[in-house]
Amino acid sequence: MTHEVPSRTLPSAALQETVQRALKRTPLRFTRRNFLAGAGALAAGLTIDSGMIARHSLEVVPQVLKIARLPEAFHGYRIAQISDIHLDAFTEPLFLSLAIRRLNQLAPDLVLLTGDFASHGPLSPAFARHAVVHCAELLHEIACPLRYAILGNHDTGIGSAFVVAALKASHIPTLVNQHVPIERNGQRFWLCGLDDPGTSNPILDLAVPRDPDGPVILLSHPPDFADEVVRHPRGALVDIMLAGHSHGGQVRLPFLGPLVLPPMGEKYVEGFYRFKQMQLYVNRGLGTVGLPFRLNCPPEITLFTMQDDSPIKKLSS
Ligand SMILES: [Fe+2]
Repeated sequence: MTHEVPSRTLPSAALQETVQRALKRTPLRFTRRNFLAGAGALAAGLTIDSGMIARHSLEVVPQVLKIARLPEAFHGYRIAQISDIHLDAFTEPLFLSLAIRRLNQLAPDLVLLTGDFASHGPLSPAFARHAVVHCAELLHEIACPLRYAILGNHDTGIGSAFVVAALKASHIPTLVNQHVPIERNGQRFWLCGLDDPGTSNPILDLAVPRDPDGPVILLSHPPDFADEVVRHPRGALVDIMLAGHSHGGQVRLPFLGPLVLPPMGEKYVEGFYRFKQMQLYVNRGLGTVGLPFRLNCPPEITLFTMQDDSPIKKLSS
């Protein structure tokens, strides 16, 4: 008994015929209307993603911070940096509270806040001052007892003294051309803060101590001021400068990069940069300015772990 072997070409032929019939009924046409409908759907999807999802996709960025001649007491010391909150312009209080909860879970040894707590304009000065007070109240929930701030360009616009007082009420000292020693087990590094270089009066001779007996961390809101720091005599004493302001570009288009960058945040946009004797780190910030969108540029909490970068001593034989 023999079995007839079914033709393998039959299903394929039938399928091709069905597809061809379907194509004849509904020809695929690249019309202006179809293009606009597709572009509209894509734009709507991108708007929802960048406005609602990407803007809130908080990223904790772990970084190793290598410092030469780092005192042993600070090996493994952890510093968290938050920047550019811009509360209430677009940043919702709930999002800031969630970010603070995430920060508290990280349990850093020191928290640094590098400016722009609210937005100066386009809304009224009263609205901005209310946002600063609200921001400072929420920041009171930071569990780490050791925390310092500096002012950004929006803060000086709202009023430096007002912002400093609001932060002080939440036990957050602000360094305005000032420095403090951060001490542990009798050893220290120096934390230095500049007044906002873009809108106020940064004085490196005051911010950085003349003869620091330990590493120096300098806080400057705008990153591009690093070029001034390295040219200044006190710049040679700075191990690392921490900045924000650029928002990492906020909206970064594929193949094109950041859509808009602010003055003094155009050259150094995100992450680590190395100069001859100094490093620079640029945090992407939490909030947004201009429009409530982020694209390919998630909000950031940086978590630095300090490590000694001194040359390894050779053991004598
Ligand atoms: Fe800024």
